Formats: sequence, C-alpha cells, structure tokens
Amino acid sequence: MTFSPRWLLTSLTGSAFVLAFGMQWVPQARAQDKKEIAKKIQATVIATGESLASGDASKVKELEKFDLDPIMHSFKPRARGGIGFGPVAGFVPPNEDGLESKLISLAKKPLSPADATRLESAVSVAAHQILAIAMVSESKWPENKDKSKSKEKWAEFNTLMKDSAKDLAAAAKSKNSAKIKSSASSLYRSCNECHTTFRD
Ligand code: HEC
Repeated sequence: MTFSPRWLLTSLTGSAFVLAFGMQWVPQARAQDKKEIAKKIQATVIATGESLASGDASKVKELEKFDLDPIMHSFKPRARGGIGFGPVAGFVPPNEDGLESKLISLAKKPLSPADATRLESAVSVAAHQILAIAMVSESKWPENKDKSKSKEKWAEFNTLMKDSAKDLAAAAKSKNSAKIKSSASSLYRSCNECHTTFRD
C-alpha cells in the first residue's frame, strides 16, 4: 500500500471520532434511555401504590407491561435512580432514602413512638409501592426447567412478599412499632430468599 497522508488523516480522525464520541456517547445514550424508562416505570409503581391504598387494583395491569428487572430497580436508593423513601429527598438520611434501605432499617430496630407517628404515612406509601411490585412480580416467574427454581418456589417467596407488604401497611397505620419491625423483617426475608434462589 502506498502511503497516503490523506488516508492516514481520515483514519486517524475516524478513530479519534470513535474514541471521543462512539465509545462514550453510545453508552451514555443507553444510560439516558434506561433512566427515562426507569422513571416512567416508577411513576407507574407510585400511582399503582396510591390506588392500592384506596382499594383499587386496576392499575396493576398497567405495571405488568414492564419487565421485572427495571421494576425491581425501584428499590434502589433515590440517589441511584430508585423511588426513595418519603415524599422528598432529605426526609430521611441519604443512607435510608431507598425502599430497600429503609426496609432494612425498619427490620433492624423498632421505631420510637414518635417516629412511628412521624413516619406513618411514608411507611404506608412505601408498603403499598412494594405491594404493587409484588402483585406484578407474581406473574413474572423466569421460566426454566431447574426443579429448585420452580414456579411453586417463586409463588411461595412472592406470596411472602405480598402478605408482608400488606402487614407492613396495616402496622404503619396502627403505628405499632413491634409489628412494623416484624412485618419489615419478613418482607425483607422474602427479597433475600427469592434472590438467593432465582438471582444469585
Ligand atoms: C419472587 C422473587 C423476588 C422477590 C420476592 C423479590 N425479588 Fe428482587 N429480583 C428478583 C429477580 C429474579 C431479579 C433479577 C431480575 C433480572 O435480572 O431480570 C431481582 C432484581 C432485584 C433488584 C435489581 C434491580 C436492578 O436495578 O437491576 C433489586 C434492587 C431488587 N430485586 C430488590 C428487591 C427487594 C428489596 C425485594 C423485597 C422487598 C425483592 N427484590 C423481592 C426476584 C425477586
């Protein structure tokens, strides 16, 4: 091949372009899409939770259209793209500002009577959001032939998630710290048991 400064220039510019834009811009664009999808799904989780709190399950069908993984993304801390706990950022410390992280803290230590009152609405809202997710994950068993990952196992963990979320909502309403703690513990157990079997 004859040396062509022009070819060299084109090829260098080409790789510089790929390095500068291709390698960065494409994943960023995907991350942006992912964020927007997550936001849309979370708005649906929030709306479904609100309607479940008033006894209306009709929105569950809408949430069912989405895949399990981005729905479960709702559990991440607010700062990492999840729904968060409480009406606004700063309502609780950042390390508790996530549906999952708050659940862990509720399961660990009983709330003081003052906190059971202060957090009543936020715990109830979170419990209904988790219930919304549980009502949808019910039908999302990852089909496979492994006996240890059966549909029955999935249903068992999912029922524990659903029942405990209902218990947590009731416990929040009655401001019963011991019941908030015990229902949060069984709810968190459902996450771990299902993940150990189906995710890890
Ligand atoms: C019935 C089974 C089941 C239960 C119960 C369950 N999960 Fe999951 N979860 C999964 C599976 C399966 C995945 C992985 C989905 C995938 O990768 O497609 C997942 C993924 C996740 C993720 C990762 C989402 C992301 O951004 O990729 C988080 C966070 C999560 N779950 C939190 C929870 C919490 C918190 C609970 C309990 C309140 C819970 N899950 C209960 C099955 C379950």
